[in-house]
Amino acid sequence: MAKHLLTLRDLSKEEIMGLIQRALEIKSGGGQASDRLKGKTLGLIFDKPSTRTRVSFEVAMFRLGGSTLYLGRADTQMSRNEPAKDTARVLSRYLDALAIRTFGQALVKEMARWSAIPVINALTDQYHPCQVLSDLMTVVEKKNGLDGLKIAWIGDGNNVARSWINAAGILGLELVLACPPGYHPGKGLVQWAGGNVKVVEDPKEAARGAHVINTDVWASMGQEEEKEERIKIFQPYQVDQSLVELADPAVIVMHCLPAHRGEEITEEVLEGPKSVVFDQAENKMHLHQALLEMLLAK
Ligand code: CP
Ligand code: NVA
Repeated sequence: MAKHLLTLRDLSKEEIMGLIQRALEIKSGGGQASDRLKGKTLGLIFDKPSTRTRVSFEVAMFRLGGSTLYLGRADTQMSRNEPAKDTARVLSRYLDALAIRTFGQALVKEMARWSAIPVINALTDQYHPCQVLSDLMTVVEKKNGLDGLKIAWIGDGNNVARSWINAAGILGLELVLACPPGYHPGKGLVQWAGGNVKVVEDPKEAARGAHVINTDVWASMGQEEEKEERIKIFQPYQVDQSLVELADPAVIVMHCLPAHRGEEITEEVLEGPKSVVFDQAENKMHLHQALLEMLLAK
């Protein structure tokens, strides 16, 4: 059976740490992993836009000697209701792996159920596991490890936040999320993660003494109609200089990008000395090479 990455819970602690180590090794070796995926093809079914995830997966596959096929929302017969179970079985005959960015997690689950090749969740409304893998790599790179760190999440309890909760549960990280009422991540997930994950409503409580501050947009893709309302609700959760000053003096500020300056983060913080957002973006390419090697190299 093919190994899938639908959420981080598909990986063990050892696999996550192994991916991070391999990605750091690839990066320090000049960014070229191997040509171990020569002759293999990664398909990318993307129902939502993407700059980083798409380009970094495509370049990762090229660097491994393989090729990619980008299938946008209107490009396949899925746009005319061909069932996922048929699409998955057909694409399994042509491709070696499939990365999917879509709305509901149910679609990636259904594709994986019928697919003979690995299915990678490249973002759904519920989870963004690849993002958090490369974010963990960035934390290890900047902080020399994960032990003893307080990680803060400020803002929406969204797909990226939920993947951070998964990571915290698997790796035993201290994670404090500050989210407005009504925008918490699911209670069940937080309970599963254990006592090291806490959800609060005061952003200062999360930021105080933090070694890592994470934030993300207030309205994710698919929530455009809620944008104005969310801007009002989330205002107290803006990551600004005064919030960063409550953190550990060596704090790093992370954002998966794209960022909305003046909303979830100020220009001053995003462009400031604590921000690691462009290293974070670069690391997606290294981590995706490590992930594709793990899933596909024989
Ligand atoms: N961080 C991230 O997933 O960015 P894209 O939407 O550009 O892929
Ligand atoms: N939470 C954001 C992440 C974008 C990479 C979204 O889903 O739009």
